Order: sequence, then C-alpha cells, then structure tokens
Amino acid sequence: GPALSGEHAEAPSIAALRRQAEGCERCDLYKNATQLVFSEGPADARVVLVGEQPGDREDLAGRPFVGPAGRILNECLHEAGIDRSSCYLTNAVKHFKFEQRGKRRMHSRPNAGEIQRCAWWLGAELDHLHPDLVVALGATALMALLGRSVAVTKNRGDLIATPGGYPVLVTIHPSYLLRIRDREDAAVERGRFVNDLAKIATHLR
Ligand code: URA
Repeated sequence: GPALSGEHAEAPSIAALRRQAEGCERCDLYKNATQLVFSEGPADARVVLVGEQPGDREDLAGRPFVGPAGRILNECLHEAGIDRSSCYLTNAVKHFKFEQRGKRRMHSRPNAGEIQRCAWWLGAELDHLHPDLVVALGATALMALLGRSVAVTKNRGDLIATPGGYPVLVTIHPSYLLRIRDREDAAVERGRFVNDLAKIATHLR
C-alpha cells in the first residue's frame, strides 16, 4: 500500500486545518478582516509560539508577526538564541479585529467569546504538532491555551499545563515592549522578555 507519512495519522494536517479555517464562521471577525492569518512554521516544530491576533500588517500579508511586534519578537528570539524559523508561530485569534478611525485600522482586543471560539483551531494545531513546549505571548494567548483567565505577571517565566497536557511557558506579548515610553524601563522589560525566551531551550526534550 501507499507509504504512511510517519506523522500522526489521526490528526488532520496543518495545511488541511488552514483550508478548513478559511471558511470559519465561528465568530464574526472573518467579516471585516482581509483574510485569515493561520500560522507559519514547520509541522515538526518542537516549540509553538502563540500570539494574540494578527495586526494590520499581518492581516494584509496573511502571515503572523510580520509587523512591528514581529520585528521586536525576532530580535528578542535571536538574542535568546532561538531560531524563529524552527518555531511554529500562531495566534489565539486568527482574524484581525479592529476599529476604523479615519484611514487607520486600530487594533481592538478580542473578547472572551471570540477567544474561546477560535481556541478550537489552536487546540487542533497542538494536537497535530504535539510540541515539547508552548509559549504564551501575553494574556490572550494564555487564556486561549488554558481555557480560563490567568495572570501573566504572577506566572511569567513559569510553566502551566493546558487541559490537554501541553506545557505552557508564560511571558508577555512583545507589543507591550513597544508601548513603554521610558527608555530605561523599556530596556529592562526587553531584557526580562529575552530572559523568558531563553528558557525555551531548557524545556526541549
Ligand atoms: N501580534 C500578535 O499577537 N500576532 C501577530 O501575528 C502580530 C502581532
């Protein structure tokens, strides 16, 4: 018979999940977004990074973390000794939620219902990838992964297991670093973020 791929035969492939998600109407966010932003990265990645939702740039490009938050994430991963291209990058919510203000589309936070409905896709991604480690970038990712609200600041740098048993490393969202006005504070927080990301390597099997 035909050769088996050797991957988890019971789980739909990431490509098939993405095709399914193109038609997602679980919540209303698909209506105003340009396109679905599903994920990026190898299907055999050991590390999954989970953001909040695509921003303006990601919505136009159809790829996660290609805008300002992505640039600082890339820099910090590099400083932490992590190769971005070896990671699977995805978001808790897969369509851009925004408010139109004149010509600008201003980021709008996804609500609990949108997070919960979109978490079905995230769960399916994890069940395909079976990663060694999941990194929650901020509160929305953490809520999507755990199915409940958990404080980022009290738990950052720690591991918390998802209901499905995947270990989650808790840290901030990189866009938080872009909002800090004081240069010294920003440098300190950036250093803490790099320090959190550097823990990734210690959790790989
Ligand atoms: N912020 C996110 O959380 N995800 C992206 O893909 C881009 C910005």
